[in-house]
Amino acid sequence: IREDPPAVGDYVANYICKRINDFSPTPDKPFVLGLPTGSSPIPTYKALIAMVKKGQLSFKNVVTFNMDEYVGIPSDHPESYHTFMFREFFSHIDIQPSNVNILDGTVEDLVGECNAYEKKIKSYGGIELFLGGIGEDGHIAFNEPGSSLASRTRIKTLAYDTILANARFFNNDISAVPRMALTVGVATVLDSREVIIAVTGLRKALALSKAIEEGVNHLWTLSALQLHPWALIVVDEDATSEL
Ligand code: GLP
Repeated sequence: IREDPPAVGDYVANYICKRINDFSPTPDKPFVLGLPTGSSPIPTYKALIAMVKKGQLSFKNVVTFNMDEYVGIPSDHPESYHTFMFREFFSHIDIQPSNVNILDGTVEDLVGECNAYEKKIKSYGGIELFLGGIGEDGHIAFNEPGSSLASRTRIKTLAYDTILANARFFNNDISAVPRMALTVGVATVLDSREVIIAVTGLRKALALSKAIEEGVNHLWTLSALQLHPWALIVVDEDATSEL
């Protein structure tokens, strides 16, 4: 538990920095990092960018896999997760664009896209560290309430609550929010060697308490991390208000 979102971001960024530096990645043995979008990781991204600028960290031999992407908006749409990731993070660090992997929600064969994504993750020997956030309904990535805890990368219809929550990014126009997304599955996240989730703000307090104080439940998909041997949830004080 840290005081506020910037302190959560500093903690998570230091954690990631140490993991990457201890791993000493090379072109043949890159560090494989899973990444989220949303407002929760922004303080972490800011802190990581500062570390790269100071020469304390390099993403040259880091391969990334993003958690999810909307279906039905072009990659260069201002609110696509592609655009978000380059605007908030990738354009400011020394990552090689060929090492960035983000699901493509514009292709015709969406199922093929999801299966190829799982295959590509496996081809790297899996994800070393998955960073994530949660939705107000406790979803990780876009694994909405009711997702199978054994789910893999797939197409997911967004819950109405998620569409409402994300309308703020689409000029508060609910009809402009995509209805579907491609997302890694709960089992894809559970497969990674380590998971770290940043949860901040009062809006997430109920989901946090359901996920960590109640049993494993597919209605609060974050709770699946109770089954993970090495999962860490970093929160601010507001997020603890229901604990
Ligand atoms: C979306 C993303 C999630 C993210 C969530 C929370 O639903 N698919 O991966 O955790 O938003 O976003 P925020 O951090 O802005 O509250």
